[in-house]
Amino acid sequence: MRLLSSSDACRIGLSRSGALKSGMSRLLVLLLTVALSRCSCPDRCLCSSQTVKCQNQDLSAIPLSLPLNTRFLFVTGNNISDITVDSFPTKLEMLTDLYLSGNQIESVGEKVFENLPNLVRLDLSNNKFQTFSDSALPDINRLEVLNLSKSFQNHTDIDVVVGVLQSAKLDRLKVLDLSNNDLVILPEDTFMSLSNLVNLSLQNSSIISIQNGTLKVPQLHNLDLRDNSMKYLPTTTLAEFSSMPDLRIWLSGNPWRCDCFIEDTLLWLKNSTQVIDMQNLTCKDPEALRRHLLMHVDPSHLNCSGNMEGVLETSYVFLGLVLALIGVIFLLVLYLNRKGIKRWIYNFRDACRDHMEGYHYRYEINSDPRLANLSINSDV
Ligand SMILES: *[C@@H]1O[C@H](CO)[C@@H](O)[C@H](O)[C@H]1NC(C)=O
Ligand SMILES: *[C@@H]1O[C@H](CO)[C@@H](O)[C@H](O)[C@H]1NC(C)=O
Ligand SMILES: *[C@@H]1O[C@H](CO)[C@@H](O)[C@H](O)[C@H]1NC(C)=O
Ligand SMILES: *[C@@H]1O[C@H](CO)[C@@H](O)[C@H](O)[C@H]1NC(C)=O
Ligand SMILES: *[C@@H]1O[C@H](CO)[C@@H](O)[C@H](O)[C@H]1NC(C)=O
Ligand SMILES: *[C@@H]1O[C@H](CO)[C@@H](O)[C@H](O)[C@H]1NC(C)=O
Ligand SMILES: *[C@@H]1O[C@H](CO)[C@@H](O)[C@H](O)[C@H]1NC(C)=O
Ligand SMILES: *[C@@H]1O[C@H](CO)[C@@H](O)[C@H](O)[C@H]1NC(C)=O
Ligand SMILES: *[C@@H]1O[C@H](CO)[C@@H](O)[C@H](O)[C@H]1NC(C)=O
Repeated sequence: MRLLSSSDACRIGLSRSGALKSGMSRLLVLLLTVALSRCSCPDRCLCSSQTVKCQNQDLSAIPLSLPLNTRFLFVTGNNISDITVDSFPTKLEMLTDLYLSGNQIESVGEKVFENLPNLVRLDLSNNKFQTFSDSALPDINRLEVLNLSKSFQNHTDIDVVVGVLQSAKLDRLKVLDLSNNDLVILPEDTFMSLSNLVNLSLQNSSIISIQNGTLKVPQLHNLDLRDNSMKYLPTTTLAEFSSMPDLRIWLSGNPWRCDCFIEDTLLWLKNSTQVIDMQNLTCKDPEALRRHLLMHVDPSHLNCSGNMEGVLETSYVFLGLVLALIGVIFLLVLYLNRKGIKRWIYNFRDACRDHMEGYHYRYEINSDPRLANLSINSDV
């Protein structure tokens, strides 16, 4: 009730101050506005014209009785663990900019922003979101700038991030700040519904790779990928970048591994104008090239062919060793079995001799018609 009457007072006051124009009444208007801003400016907040600031006041909730004409609201650096549908109980038609940075917010409930239909800039940075309702942002909204920098500290919560970006129709969103989060890998459909996104910051977000299809964002113009954990850019990513000729990319501060596998990336960089800070990319590995500028690395120093030769050489040596070992084992077996082998050779020789002698004998017998019968008997 107290809230309602204070709002009513504000509304009446506003229309009156609009109507009073004569010089005679200026003092009265001044007094009235001062009184009004007093009447509706919440405790521990500063109000000036259409700006309300409640900063670093250890507030545990968003102040309830905000002036109805508030356009810019700063509730930052407080200690608010969750925001719910009751956080904005009255419709604030004029509110376009809401800053809720640094409040330790963990949970964003259903329909929280329902009463802020004209929100254009929403800053939720420096919080610790673990749950974020699908219906927090109204389906119909005017959001153009969404700041989620340093808001998601655990990559196991990546579904929450994706949920936020897909839940509402963020088709007017132009700027998305996802820097300083723990993201690692973004699911392919993360930015799918952001058809008007122009600036995307993924700086310092532990990203190791961009999947094919993730950046299918038609209007994307500035992509900040600095200070992540990428060692190479896969060919699919290079192709994806090349297919967006208006895209400008920042890539410094990644731990580039300057070995044979970075050759494609290097050739692409040398031929592309898209990477704004390409002169600032440095190698992290191998030791010999640490802190070298990637653009100054001579592709012939990447040891691509050298490495392959080395690998071949080793494999030949290995093959030779294996063959030698087999030979030695064979000889050893022969040596250990030398008696058996000798016996076997003798047996064989004897068998041969017997056989040959048999032939000889038979031949002689066969040639002598008188001994033909005997020869048949000896064969049996
Ligand atoms: C924030 O509020 C919680 C209780 O909601 C309290 O335990 C904590 O000490 C507060 N932190 C600070 C920095 O005031
Ligand atoms: C987001 O917030 C951080 C600080 O909380 C600020 O440094 C950064 O500039 C903001 N990003 C945008 C796009 O406004
Ligand atoms: C991230 O979340 C998982 C499970 O939800 C938990 O086991 C892990 O300790 C968390 N990591 C950090 C750095 O908070
Ligand atoms: C990178 O992000 C982490 C949080 O994820 C933050 O603690 C750290 O200060 C950030 N580093 C820089 C250089 O901003
Ligand atoms: C996007 O970022 C660029 C440079 O970082 C800046 O000049 C431009 O104003 C930004 N666009 C919007 C819509 O904020
Ligand atoms: C990457 O995506 C494009 C279309 O977005 C597709 O044509 C191409 O085949 C994909 N490449 C791979 C390796 O999946
Ligand atoms: C270099 O870039 C141009 C377009 O900028 C492209 O047509 C050409 O194929 C590229 N060359 C190589 C070797 O990638
Ligand atoms: C390259 O790095 C230097 C020093 O850190 C910085 O001043 C400069 O702006 C960077 N250049 C680009 C294009 O980012
Ligand atoms: C390439 O090989 C040469 C000699 O084999 C070596 O001195 C050099 O450090 C290697 N370079 C890299 C980047 O590993």
